[in-house]
Amino acid sequence: MSNQNIYDNQEFFDGYKKLRDDPSAANYVVEKPALFSLAPDLNNKSVLDLGCGYGENCIRFLELGARKVTGLDISAKMLEMARNENSSPRIEYINKSMTDLDDITDKFDVVFSSLAVHYIEDFDKLARDVYRLLNPGGYFIFSQEHPLTTALLNADYWTRNSENDIIHYNLTTYTVEGERKVAWLVDGVTKYHRTFSTIINSLLGSGFVIEKMLEPVPGSDIMEKCPAYKRYIHKPDFLLIKARKNS
Ligand SMILES: C[S@@+](CC[C@H](N)C(=O)[O-])C[C@H]1O[C@@H](n2cnc3c(N)ncnc32)[C@H](O)[C@@H]1O
Repeated sequence: MSNQNIYDNQEFFDGYKKLRDDPSAANYVVEKPALFSLAPDLNNKSVLDLGCGYGENCIRFLELGARKVTGLDISAKMLEMARNENSSPRIEYINKSMTDLDDITDKFDVVFSSLAVHYIEDFDKLARDVYRLLNPGGYFIFSQEHPLTTALLNADYWTRNSENDIIHYNLTTYTVEGERKVAWLVDGVTKYHRTFSTIINSLLGSGFVIEKMLEPVPGSDIMEKCPAYKRYIHKPDFLLIKARKNS
């Protein structure tokens, strides 16, 4: 099932909100800075944000000069927050799954997606859909949980010593692609694991040119302030890709 709507589950929603209320969350100190570092000039551009959540990025795209922004999300609860906290006459929020883009006829200059595509089973189709929705020369810029993270079938991520310091990451089942049922905030959250090469080949097969990839690691100052981020020495949490549709 590629359309699980876990963010509308109240227990999950509350737990996720708590994580995001922490300004030192990895979203803010690692993922978003990397995502925005990949953004092209957004002046006068039309932007689509797939899995826009609270709409924080949608507002930022406007601040960076975007003409109009469409934020799409499967979760009515996330969109309710987006409409309450990040609304603008130049942002349209649509309650829809990104597996169901066939009836969108508008074209966009940039399609962003921040930490949402690992919820989608058929990335090949998503890449083709996004390619169709882009104007020539347009960009697909997305972040996702790193394939080294999505690989595991269980939550036994780290080997630690008696002081609880990390010794190494427990990489297993990397080559076994497909569904992962994980306990994250609640039991039974569905994500999908794809290897690095599968992700890249889906983009290339759809016609994209890959311009840049990032596996961001917080700086040593952040690691000192938040020692849990020292885990990035062993494994990045996020993969980000900037892909361009040929002119
Ligand atoms: C980790 S949150 C990220 C939210 C936002 N992009 C951000 O970075 O602040 C993932 C979002 O993807 C949305 N999502 C998950 N599956 C989806 C689907 N099939 N179609 C559209 N949105 C989806 C969730 O509802 C949630 O809002």
